Amino acid sequence: MKLNLVTFAIVFAIVSLILAYSATRLVLPDPVPGSENLLNASHIILTVGAVGPESLAFDPKGEGPYTGVADGRILKWQGLVNGWIDFAVTSSNRSACLRPFAPELEHVCGRPLGLRFDQKSGDLYISDAYLGLQVVGPSGGLATQLLTEVEGEPLHFTNDMDIDEEEDVIYFTDTSRNFRRRQFASAVISEDRTGRLIKYNRSSKEVTVLLQGLAFANGVALSKDRSFVLVAECTSCKIIRFWLKGPKAGLSETFAELPGYPDNIRRNPDGEFWVAVHSKRTTLAKWLISSSWAGKTLLKLPLNNKQLHYLLGGYHPHAIAIKLGENGEVLKVLEDLDGNIVKFISEVEERNGKLWMGSVLMPYIAVYDL
Ligand SMILES: *[C@@H]1O[C@H](CO)[C@@H](O)[C@H](O)[C@H]1NC(C)=O
Ligand SMILES: *[C@@H]1O[C@H](CO)[C@@H](O)[C@H](O)[C@H]1NC(C)=O
Ligand SMILES: *[C@@H]1O[C@H](CO)[C@@H](O)[C@H](O)[C@H]1NC(C)=O
Repeated sequence: MKLNLVTFAIVFAIVSLILAYSATRLVLPDPVPGSENLLNASHIILTVGAVGPESLAFDPKGEGPYTGVADGRILKWQGLVNGWIDFAVTSSNRSACLRPFAPELEHVCGRPLGLRFDQKSGDLYISDAYLGLQVVGPSGGLATQLLTEVEGEPLHFTNDMDIDEEEDVIYFTDTSRNFRRRQFASAVISEDRTGRLIKYNRSSKEVTVLLQGLAFANGVALSKDRSFVLVAECTSCKIIRFWLKGPKAGLSETFAELPGYPDNIRRNPDGEFWVAVHSKRTTLAKWLISSSWAGKTLLKLPLNNKQLHYLLGGYHPHAIAIKLGENGEVLKVLEDLDGNIVKFISEVEERNGKLWMGSVLMPYIAVYDL
């Protein structure tokens, strides 16, 4: 009872603050220099009966995209006439996986996040937030587990990956050792720094932790010449570059600082990188994350992930995609400023003059003609 009153008072105070200052810079993000408000010209493809198509991948024949959704399935887009078909699953125990969105069942049903095809074999590699690294053949079905633990400890929140086919290596992220995917907003507010960038050698099965202490390790992308790998650090709104080759091999540095929370990173054919930014960081969110007392107090309250996400900026849905050059320079910023058509994107895949965009929360993918 007492806790409920305190909760109510604090949430009421924060919500009042949001309402009272809703036009100010406290709760609305600053404009991004050079941004073009064009993503509202995208068209939407609904993921009928499913939500949260986080990652998108085309197979070596150019078919797809394929995408993992919140109920654990991986779907394949077959075009407007044939729509979506079920392609693969990461869990064999799916009798309870009937609802499009049931976060409490994600560890049972699986939650496929990062998807990448091996261009030679046509196998689809999957990083499932709860079930680790998996792979499924070109005809789909139940995926096979590749890796579920690192250094004797289960993977806790496997997120994204990229494949170096020449070296036969997968680079992937484990977002946090403390929080699971369904608690992502708590991981951000608490400034959890237990994320890792990990290397998996497909032939020797050897696993090496390349970077640890990351604040919500998220998207992963190799450079075109495979000399470095990028990893998105969601909480700090940064992209980190880890050098694989050359004089700085083994070292890391900040590659780019972004106006919001980066999710997946995908390289385009020119070697540039598209970063899907989940949402821009507001002054309120920055304060909640950096102020230990406010963040800690919030986390003690019986607020669910959706309510915490709301306080972090979820009250202002929008979309922002940022293209970075090979040295981290900002080349293009595309937005749907008011979220009229596109919201909370999680990946941007450039293909044949179009941007295909996923969203970890929405019931659609979006396609924008460049
Ligand atoms: C997108 O938004 C801009 C700015 O509000 C508006 O001028 C334009 O007509 C919109 N475009 C579409 C396709 O809705
Ligand atoms: C299958 O999932 C149910 C929850 O839906 C769980 O109770 C059961 O233990 C699981 N079975 C296996 C074999 O993992
Ligand atoms: C992967 O393992 C094989 C077999 O042990 C080894 O020859 C190769 O150098 C390793 N590759 C990388 C990139 O570590």
